[in-house]
Amino acid sequence: MSIQRLDIPRLERALKGRRIGGRILYHGQVGSTMDEARLLAEAGEPEGTVIIAEEQTAGRGRFNRAWVSPPGENLAFSVVLRPAQAQLRYVNMAATLAVAGAAEALTGLQPTIKWPNDVRLGGRKLSGILIETSMSEAGLRYAVLGIGLNVNMDPSRFPEIAQLATSLLRETGRKADRTRVLQEVLARLDDLYQVVQGGGSLLSRWASRLETLGKVVQVRWRDQVLEGQATGVDDEGNLLLRQPDGSTIPVVAGEVTLQSSRG
Ligand code: BTN
Repeated sequence: MSIQRLDIPRLERALKGRRIGGRILYHGQVGSTMDEARLLAEAGEPEGTVIIAEEQTAGRGRFNRAWVSPPGENLAFSVVLRPAQAQLRYVNMAATLAVAGAAEALTGLQPTIKWPNDVRLGGRKLSGILIETSMSEAGLRYAVLGIGLNVNMDPSRFPEIAQLATSLLRETGRKADRTRVLQEVLARLDDLYQVVQGGGSLLSRWASRLETLGKVVQVRWRDQVLEGQATGVDDEGNLLLRQPDGSTIPVVAGEVTLQSSRG
C-alpha cells in the first residue's frame, strides 16, 4: 500500500527562520529517530534540528516500551535541543503544550495532559513524549525530545493499545493533513521553547491542562507504587501527592494511573 508522504518542502517554507523546525531531516525508515538525533547531536548539530521518519523499526517509549506507529499514518520525530540544565524541566511542558495546542486548533476539541507528559483526548492517549539527555561532569550536554503523535491511525487495529490509544482520526472521524499537523506542533514548540529560554514560565498554562489534578492516583516509579490524591504541582512540575497518612510529597517522575479510569 502506498503512503501519503509528508510534504517537507511545504513544511520548510512554513517554518523558515525558526530555531525549531528551521532544519528538517526526513527519513523513510529508521530504527528510532531518538538514535538519529543523538548521533547528530554528538557530531555538533545545532539545536532545533528535527529528525522525522515515516517508519521506525524500533520506536521506543517511556519505560523502554515499544512505540506502535504504523508507517505513514502518524507523526514520529525527534528534536535536538541544547537547553541550560535549569531549563530542562520545562522542555516537557513546552512539548505537551505544543501538541495539545495544535490538536485543539485543528479539531476544536480540548486535549488534556496526564502528568507528566501524555497528551490525551477522550480519556485516551493521543501523544507520547520522551526526553533523553546526555550529561557530562560539566552538566547537560544536550537533550533529545521525541514526540509520537497519533494522527490517522485506527487504534482498534492494534490490540495492545486499542483500549488505551486514540488518534485525531478516531476523535474527529476524518483524516488530517499530517504536514499541517506537524507544522502546527513545531511552530508552537518553537514559540514555547523561546519562552523557556527567555526564563519565562509555562507552569500555569501546563497546570491548567493537567487532568491529573484533584484525582486519586497511583504513581509507579521503578519498583515503588505511591497512592494518594494529586493536589497540585510545584514550581518544577513535580506532582504533589497527598498520601493516606495526610503527608504531601513531591513526585519527580513516574507513571500515573488514574483510579477508576482506563489510566
Ligand atoms: C511514551 O512512552 O509515551 C513516549 C513515546 C515517544 C515516541 C516517540 S516517536 C518519535 C521518537 N522516536 C522514538 O523511538 N520514540 C519517540
